[in-house]
Amino acid sequence: MNLVSATPASLQLAAEIIRNGNLVAFPTETVYGLGADALNATACAKIFAAKNRPYFDPLIVHLADLSWLEKLSAQFDERARRLAEKFWPGPLTLVVPKTGLVPDIVTAGLPNVALRMPNHPLALELLRAAQTPIAAPSANPFGYLSPTTAEHVAEQLGNKIDLILDGGPCPIGVESTILDLTEEKPRLLRPGGLPLEMLEPLAGRIEIYQSDSERPLAPGQLPSHYAPRTPAAFLNADFKFPADQKAGLLAFQTPIENLPFAKIEILSPAGDLAEAAANLFSCLHRLDRAGLQIIFVEPVPEAGLGSAIMDRLRKAVGTRQVE
Ligand code: TXA
Ligand code: MG
Repeated sequence: MNLVSATPASLQLAAEIIRNGNLVAFPTETVYGLGADALNATACAKIFAAKNRPYFDPLIVHLADLSWLEKLSAQFDERARRLAEKFWPGPLTLVVPKTGLVPDIVTAGLPNVALRMPNHPLALELLRAAQTPIAAPSANPFGYLSPTTAEHVAEQLGNKIDLILDGGPCPIGVESTILDLTEEKPRLLRPGGLPLEMLEPLAGRIEIYQSDSERPLAPGQLPSHYAPRTPAAFLNADFKFPADQKAGLLAFQTPIENLPFAKIEILSPAGDLAEAAANLFSCLHRLDRAGLQIIFVEPVPEAGLGSAIMDRLRKAVGTRQVE
């Protein structure tokens, strides 16, 4: 089994695997990442192969110290610096112009690179030990639910990764917020673990980027993404229980009484959005494994972390028609 708990020895081994151009899955505060040496194009190509990820979808580059900035970014201006100083390490990814050192495969040919310093002791130790920035998407097959435990990674990609470092469940549970700083107006490419409300005081007014599925600006924002294999639908006002189907429920705070759901998962009994985010992907993984025909999803309040949760839920429901 290539799943190991994190020890000084397994961290050294993981760093060696990265330096040798191979793949390691590791925990971050948001979700587990599937990492390769970001400066080695061949190593990064292995990420795309393992995930079955289209080459037009660029990777986030993780760093452990700011000295990498000038090597990776052709322009890390005052505004970027302010944000990095305040929110790194943390769940914020900044898209900035890249240098020639960043292989094109990492940025899918775009002139910009996405950078972040993760706030997880194991991720930081791995980055320091590997002595290179690490390109890492979420460690899941393309389009599927993100992994927030090492077991999620092992189940979905176990045979395609050289080593999975187990650091327990990810404390935040949704991916980083992605902010594009390549133009005058900052643009939110993906809502995530750092709420917009916290960014605006430092970044100024942020434009919300509306993805249209053809454009490669933020390709992870395809309408169906982060999706379980089981069809999913929002629990809306005209909901009727499908008598002929084995249905599951993802509830925010309280289950719905008196309906024969075959399985119910609750995001946060206390109604706390941070707890809901931390539980989101684990609840969806369990529902997806329960042999259901449909998963009904209750919307959560759309403020703070609720925006990131609703973004993931909309993509889990996707554009699929469910009867
Ligand atoms: O929390 C996270 O961000 C996690 C952990 C592992 O750090 N990573 C993650 O990576 O969510 P991934 O690959 O699942 O999502 C990365 C997304 C891409 O789909 C794309 O939308 C955006 O980041 N992205 C990456 N590089 C970009 C670039 N150069 N320009 C615009 N968007 C970019
Ligand atoms: Mg992902």
